[in-house]
Amino acid sequence: MTTTGSDVSTSPPAPTPKIAPPAGRLGVVSVGLGAVATTFIAGVELIRRGMAEPVGSLTQLGTIRLGKRTEDRAPLIREFVPLAELEDLVFGAWDPFPDDAYVSAVKAGVLDVARHLEPIGETLRAIRPMKAAFDPAYVKKLDGPNVMPSRAKRAMLEGVREDLRAFREQHGCDRMVMVWCGSTEVFVDLGPAHLDLEAFEAAIDADDASITPSMLYAYAALLEGVPFANGAPNLTVDIPVLRDFASAKGVPICGKDFKTGQTMVKTVLAPMFKARMLGMHGWYSTNILGNRDGEVLDDPESFKTKETSKLGVLDTILQPRMYPQLYGDLHHVVRINYYPPRGDNKEGWDNIDFFGWLGYPMQLKVDFLCRDSILAAPLALDLALLLDLAQRAGMSGIQEWLSFYFKAPQVAPGLYPEHDLFIQHTKLKNTLRWMMGEEQITHLGVEYYAEDYLPEA
Ligand SMILES: NC(=O)c1ccc[n+]([C@@H]2O[C@H](COP(=O)([O-])OP(=O)(O)OC[C@H]3O[C@@H](n4cnc5c(N)ncnc54)[C@H](O)[C@@H]3O)[C@@H](O)[C@H]2O)c1
Repeated sequence: MTTTGSDVSTSPPAPTPKIAPPAGRLGVVSVGLGAVATTFIAGVELIRRGMAEPVGSLTQLGTIRLGKRTEDRAPLIREFVPLAELEDLVFGAWDPFPDDAYVSAVKAGVLDVARHLEPIGETLRAIRPMKAAFDPAYVKKLDGPNVMPSRAKRAMLEGVREDLRAFREQHGCDRMVMVWCGSTEVFVDLGPAHLDLEAFEAAIDADDASITPSMLYAYAALLEGVPFANGAPNLTVDIPVLRDFASAKGVPICGKDFKTGQTMVKTVLAPMFKARMLGMHGWYSTNILGNRDGEVLDDPESFKTKETSKLGVLDTILQPRMYPQLYGDLHHVVRINYYPPRGDNKEGWDNIDFFGWLGYPMQLKVDFLCRDSILAAPLALDLALLLDLAQRAGMSGIQEWLSFYFKAPQVAPGLYPEHDLFIQHTKLKNTLRWMMGEEQITHLGVEYYAEDYLPEA
């Protein structure tokens, strides 16, 4: 099953799926044990000990309205759909640096050591990264010693598959999910090796440069029946061969690039301008960032991958081809500057030059002092839980309803992605309603005014 119901009300929705219960342990394996992964893992450990609240997590804190507004039914999402319990999660990771999760978290400098790392120090120290399928050709700014003995692509693929099986066995996992929290790889164009399995397999054997380590992790996950989420802007699972393979194998996938800071704001503000038919001359976005991610993105080839993912959103929201007089001459610029003093505490500035009635110009400026990994960690948690839910519901291939979490959401070929955060939010919740056999909420609401508005039967 690759669809989650039609998004136009005239077609009958797909039948409600049967969902297997979340029995047993869920292995959550992260590619990369850096700032995002350690903040995610440490946060879950603190939350399950009752030492913190899951702020930022829709699955843990969000409610969902069911039925009419007069029915007063709004359960917590985690009580409405059968999600894995946080107690049942077991964490693992790969990283080319040998630091355990405690040391890596201290180095990342996101969480307060005394308050948030020491109390769970023993648990974090026990999470030691597996040897990475890593090749510095794809992440130019990094090189670590904790890597698989061979850089041959077939050997790396088989290595990741063996790690998955060993992890499942060692930790008694009933199910697993893989989340890419690894560095952004250099830009790779879609090529002939990415189109079908035969070409893809041959390219792996030939050590073709267009097969990146992230594609090998994703392929290994799919071969082992493990759902895969891509938190970075690399192509990874966003290539036709892996999209098709995920559907054929019955495994859900989603990506790409966590929507956390500036792009989250952009996908809230841009629909506002569009909804009010306000025009735009330019949108200039710049950032300063000093963590390892910022250092990796300082390499022009990795930045190109990020830039492509960040630039896409305005075009699809504003639709300049439909509104040439408003958005036909828009200058959209995105910059990321590596600036070590800021660490993980990114500052993102947006300057929007827009215009209103009779063309009179105005400006809106946003200065977002955010914390990158604090914003990303709850997304990693939600994605792990929702992908596992999707798999237990028999949903496979692209999970467009998880667009809410991504800068460049995966969609079926021929569809444009939906970037508006609140449309994505509605879509996610309607998918959960559909999964549980509840009515869709359309916000039409004429029934509340039946005497005044509805024609007589
Ligand atoms: N934090 C955010 O708000 C945010 C938002 C969107 C996307 N992202 C993306 O999430 C990813 C992680 O961000 P971060 O801040 O944790 O970065 P980070 O540099 O702290 O961590 C990434 C880790 O991945 C490891 N790595 C690189 N290649 C690997 C490979 N082949 N196998 C295993 N490990 C590998 C690195 O050694 C590093 O420890 C980045 O790609 C970033 O662009 C982050």
